[in-house]
Amino acid sequence: MCGIVGYIGHRDAYPIVLKGLQRLEYRGYDSAGIALYDGQELNLCKTKGKVADLKAKFEEGTSTKGNIGIGHTRWATHGVPNDVNSHPHYSNSENLVIIHNGIIENYSSLKKELVKRGYTFQSDTDTEVLINLIEDVMVKEDVKLGKAVQIALNQTIGAYAITVFDKRKPNELIVARLGSPLAIGIGEDEFFIASDASPFIEFTSNVIYLEDGEMAVIRRNKGIKVRKIQDDSLVDPYVQELKMNLEQIEKGGYDHFMLKEIYEQPNAIKDTYRGRMLVDKGIIKMSGVDDNIERLANAKRIIIVACGTSWHAGLVAEYIFEDLARIPVEVEYASEFRYRNPVIYENDVVIAISQSGETADTMAAIKLAKEKGAFVFGVCNVVGSSISRETHAGAYTHAGPEIGVASTKAFTTQITVLTMMALKLAKYKGAISDSQFRFHLQELERIPAKITRVLETSNDHIKEIADKYKNTPNCLYLGRGFNFPVALEGALKLKEISYIHAEGYPAAEMKHGPIALIDEQMPVVVIATKKGHYDKVVSNIQEIKSRKGKIIGIVTEGDEEVRNLADYVIEIPETIESLTPLLTTIPLQLLSYHIAVMLGRNVDQPRNLAKSVTVE
Ligand code: G6P
Repeated sequence: MCGIVGYIGHRDAYPIVLKGLQRLEYRGYDSAGIALYDGQELNLCKTKGKVADLKAKFEEGTSTKGNIGIGHTRWATHGVPNDVNSHPHYSNSENLVIIHNGIIENYSSLKKELVKRGYTFQSDTDTEVLINLIEDVMVKEDVKLGKAVQIALNQTIGAYAITVFDKRKPNELIVARLGSPLAIGIGEDEFFIASDASPFIEFTSNVIYLEDGEMAVIRRNKGIKVRKIQDDSLVDPYVQELKMNLEQIEKGGYDHFMLKEIYEQPNAIKDTYRGRMLVDKGIIKMSGVDDNIERLANAKRIIIVACGTSWHAGLVAEYIFEDLARIPVEVEYASEFRYRNPVIYENDVVIAISQSGETADTMAAIKLAKEKGAFVFGVCNVVGSSISRETHAGAYTHAGPEIGVASTKAFTTQITVLTMMALKLAKYKGAISDSQFRFHLQELERIPAKITRVLETSNDHIKEIADKYKNTPNCLYLGRGFNFPVALEGALKLKEISYIHAEGYPAAEMKHGPIALIDEQMPVVVIATKKGHYDKVVSNIQEIKSRKGKIIGIVTEGDEEVRNLADYVIEIPETIESLTPLLTTIPLQLLSYHIAVMLGRNVDQPRNLAKSVTVE
């Protein structure tokens, strides 16, 4: 959570930092702030609200001059989101200024010490404690800024990506990371700092991703020195070439990133299997799986850990792995797994799923599993992310940047990767025949075209349904088998972006409680595809109908039976049962999208949420 941006070079820093913050707003949007150094003065402006609010406030009265600047967009952890708690934060002398993404867990004991030493605090934040600790070290130990940052960080417990500036040393910025991401873009005599590379892709394609426990001193015209925070040893940083382009992070004519990302799914899934799934040859190549095939195929158990939508992808994968590869699977919320002293054996395989690759709970679950000797496989979207580096092996989803806070294409591409993985293990173990294996590949290859068909044929119809039910206070989602997790995901999408209360249930569980909620007002979205307990789901629909509930059925093309019972149906093309989630999820994404738009919600930045949750 929180996005940080910095610039030091020969250009005007303000537009670079401002645009950078806009691109990082998905990381949090409770407040925003920028500090610029114009050669003499530090000009700082910050405000509660979004980057657009900051822009208006800044341009009202603050000088936008200067070619050093730092900026922050915040997802509040300590202290309510108000102007005072916004970043950047000054030290008491106002010589130092800091931006911070993360949490300093021992801030309160550090603060007590600093108060005793005469420091005062304007905000409730842990960050203001950190910058004053740095100042205190500088004064007490008479050291330069870089050294003071290092000493101070060695006294903290927690997570951070920080940038610190000292107006008395106007040619350098100090950055450091532990647990929160930090990228440094390297241009000609200029440097860019950001939580991900999107703020600087139009300026440079050379990037250093700081590793955990590293800090860097960045000097104008002089370059970068990277060191380990703990022992001061010098590090030779690895300069990578960026693969991202500007088009990928812009809306490209769509009203919202979420809609763009829904429509990108056919291509995103192709990108996921391209070069891996060779349908003609009947093979799947995935180096992370191939290199560890014995370990994976002989796993006594697979434990999947994830959060949010990625956890739902894990639930779909449970059905797929057990069905195809015959390996028992457990799916855990990473936040529960990490604290419940789980039993993990050395021959367990843990699969961690994360779009961002930065989710703190998932990261902690991975560390725990590694400590207990398990082999950990990562399924991430963001290349080079912390989770992708922490795992023993992995497979990227290659969905491209996902910017809408509500996850869409990450979900379907995660399912695609996990399906390919399960198929490979099934084949290796002889749990699936060659012809079945080939058939699955052919069907998976047909999924993108089928998604396109759903998008083309049902969007307008879904808008009508959205219009009809947009004012409902509640909504139920039901599914069975492979589509039970899709029901959960459908409900989550509606909650996240429209703020309508929604719950997902296995259809047969209805009668154990939720059926009491059914009345003539209650819309119930039922996934009732031909493959997969169809008759049973039809009976569940009857039960709802006889209690006057409203049915929106997600059905296979040509279905008549549910059509006769339901108030509305949305058709999806036929496919094999294990692949239906890739199709049934599309109308549910569109339904929540249209309802949220009609209700005037901020679809891409729903209230209280952030895309990358780097705090517990
Ligand atoms: C946040 C996002 C969700 C996401 C979850 C897990 O809550 O808003 O969309 O599913 O984090 O994130 P990850 O990056 O680990 O998949």
